[in-house]
Amino acid sequence: MAELQDRMKQAVALAAVDQINDGMVLGLGSGSTAALMIRELGARLDDGRLRNITGVTTSFQGEVLAAELGIPLLALNAVDRIDLAIDGADEVDPAFQLIKGGGACHVQEKLVACRAERFVIVVDATKLVSRLNLGFLLPVEVLPGAWRQVSGQLAALGGAAELRMAVRKAGPVVTDQGNLVLDVRFEGGIADPRDLEARINNIPGVLENGLFVDLADQVLVGEIVDGEPRVRDLPRA
Ligand code: 5RP
Repeated sequence: MAELQDRMKQAVALAAVDQINDGMVLGLGSGSTAALMIRELGARLDDGRLRNITGVTTSFQGEVLAAELGIPLLALNAVDRIDLAIDGADEVDPAFQLIKGGGACHVQEKLVACRAERFVIVVDATKLVSRLNLGFLLPVEVLPGAWRQVSGQLAALGGAAELRMAVRKAGPVVTDQGNLVLDVRFEGGIADPRDLEARINNIPGVLENGLFVDLADQVLVGEIVDGEPRVRDLPRA
């Protein structure tokens, strides 16, 4: 399964890079699918198929990768526009509402997505869901000194929160901004993503949550058909 998923991710990452034109300012997403897209962008810049690209990263992961590949970068504050942002997602519903933040990068990812002229999502077929949060928990970035208080406020909204713990480091995951992440389950999933996004962000101590509402312009899905990878441009419901 992991190998099939990798092939779907590779196919969709390549299809997204086909949308990049010379001279663009690009939002570079985070996660394993976005990393494949960034690698392909680096290869096309290297052999001259693409020129004069400037990247705006959404994470330390992207910064390190872009530096390794020689992709020129500017900070969000230094650009007048972002022509196109390409990013992965953890769940995509039929109306193109998303859960992101599996890599704890959703604060910068949402800033870049909001700024982009076009926001294109690249996912493998396992990410498509009928309703958000039935499978993947909703990430919420919180100030370290407020995680217990915010957990209580999330419970009042019907959410059961758990502090995301690190792997190969004692203690919690610490985000690129130095904050913590609560992963939240709402019984029965999320019925109204727009309303919940606003309610959670209204809790003092919350930096941002992983609901991306009305932001995605296009969803490209990598899938396996007859044993071969294929990319589908998902129609919005
Ligand atoms: C990181 C994200 C990622 O885009 C999301 O977790 C998908 O990652 P992957 O492509 O590795 O499945 O939102 O914060």
